[in-house]
Amino acid sequence: MTSANPSPSASPPARPVPDRAWRFGTAPGGLPLLGHVLSLWRRPLDFLASLPAHGDLVEVRLGPRRAYLAAHPELVRHVLLQPRVFDKGGVFDKARQLLGNSLSVSRGEEHRFQRRLIQPAFHSAKIAEYTTAVADDTRTVTDAWRPGETRDISDAMHALLMRVAARTLFSTGLDDEVVEEARQCLRVVSHGIYKRTTAPLGIKEKLPTPGNRAYDRANARLRQIVAEMISARRESGTESGDLLSVLLHAEHPETHERLKDHEVLDQVVTFLVAGSETTASTLAFVFHLLGTLPAVEARVHAEVDEALGGRTPTYEDLSALPYTRNVITESLRLYPPSWMAMRVAAQDVDFGGRTVPAGTMILYSAYALHRNPDLFPDPDTFDPGRWEADRARQVPRGALLPFGAGSHKCIGDVLALTETALIVATIAARWRLRPAPGTQLRPEPKATLEAGPLPMVCERRRP
Ligand code: HEM
Repeated sequence: MTSANPSPSASPPARPVPDRAWRFGTAPGGLPLLGHVLSLWRRPLDFLASLPAHGDLVEVRLGPRRAYLAAHPELVRHVLLQPRVFDKGGVFDKARQLLGNSLSVSRGEEHRFQRRLIQPAFHSAKIAEYTTAVADDTRTVTDAWRPGETRDISDAMHALLMRVAARTLFSTGLDDEVVEEARQCLRVVSHGIYKRTTAPLGIKEKLPTPGNRAYDRANARLRQIVAEMISARRESGTESGDLLSVLLHAEHPETHERLKDHEVLDQVVTFLVAGSETTASTLAFVFHLLGTLPAVEARVHAEVDEALGGRTPTYEDLSALPYTRNVITESLRLYPPSWMAMRVAAQDVDFGGRTVPAGTMILYSAYALHRNPDLFPDPDTFDPGRWEADRARQVPRGALLPFGAGSHKCIGDVLALTETALIVATIAARWRLRPAPGTQLRPEPKATLEAGPLPMVCERRRP
């Protein structure tokens, strides 16, 4: 099912860029022919974080093509709040071939239509409903941990998030083994989509290499598992009001058509790709930070103990956990899972004196914004106190951008923050996690910013 007008509508005139003396710059160190491709490829995070020092809008050369990084929060907002002027082209055109025309990659009328359709699955009442399963699943998974044993917390959080998604958004009766298999497939698929959308030529990705065959196998198996889940739900006729129900029962307001099974399948895969790895990475970073910053950890433990007194947390407990939530916000600032994104100018646009021609790629990076010392003093320091009311008011508008902005802003933002806080509180109430000796955090910028393997030793705080 598509909207009455599936093609992106012609772009309206761009709004004038906010009036101020913008600084235009060029990224240093461009090489002949390659431009800045090597810097972006070899050390993307350092390279991106270095760019705001060169301007509010910084020219970057990607081989023969000129692209621009919007480095100032007001310019990023200017881009994200005009989705028809700065469109989801470029890597999203390639992603559309892999994910179907689903929510995260659709544009224009089609996107507005899908978003309206799916939004009810993310209303706060629904999120409150999903959360019972979140705390229960966290307990079930961590009850298998033994004091003194070492667990890779990144891996554990990915497994937990997949389990939570299966039970909440898609309330399936899938066996644990199948959920785990789907999770393994999802990792291969998610990395594969990232490689395929960012590969300059895309030739290597079509060769019958072992890696490409593994991607094809994982993609086919993941889709088979999801297809079986959809048929089982259709056959059972149950109506659980979860995301899967919303997708299966949504009707076009004019044509009364419903989504076909392959369209539901594309949406489910999109939600798994967009929702589980991002949230799991956030949790892995939070536990690493708690394990390496004893004073922060002690405050979280004290807050959780006082608010819960040993109970499993519920949605209603979150308001009593302000420090824990500030820890999560600060972790999202230092390690934003969505570390870089892009749009494409659909028309020639004037950026306050600099004309950017239609078809130009505009990059924006939450990582670069969040590490900019003009926006966040002492940006490399983990300081949850930044998010206490008085200090948070001093953060410039749009400077904190882990979930994006505008019509494509993350639809799962509240769910992600709720799940993260509940999982942190459930685990922190019972466990202290210490980094295994010699562990070094090495964030890996892939489809999401990943924490990499993080072996941690489990110490029990209470049974
Ligand atoms: C900490 C966790 C998460 C982070 C950091 C995150 C980040 C983001 C960002 C930055 C975008 C905007 C991308 C753009 O403008 O190009 C986005 C979009 C999206 N996210 Fe999330 N996300 C998270 C969790 C989730 C969850 C839990 C779900 C759903 C279960 C989800 C589903 C989506 C979808 C479907 C979109 C596309 C929305 C649209 O285009 O209308 N995300 N996310």
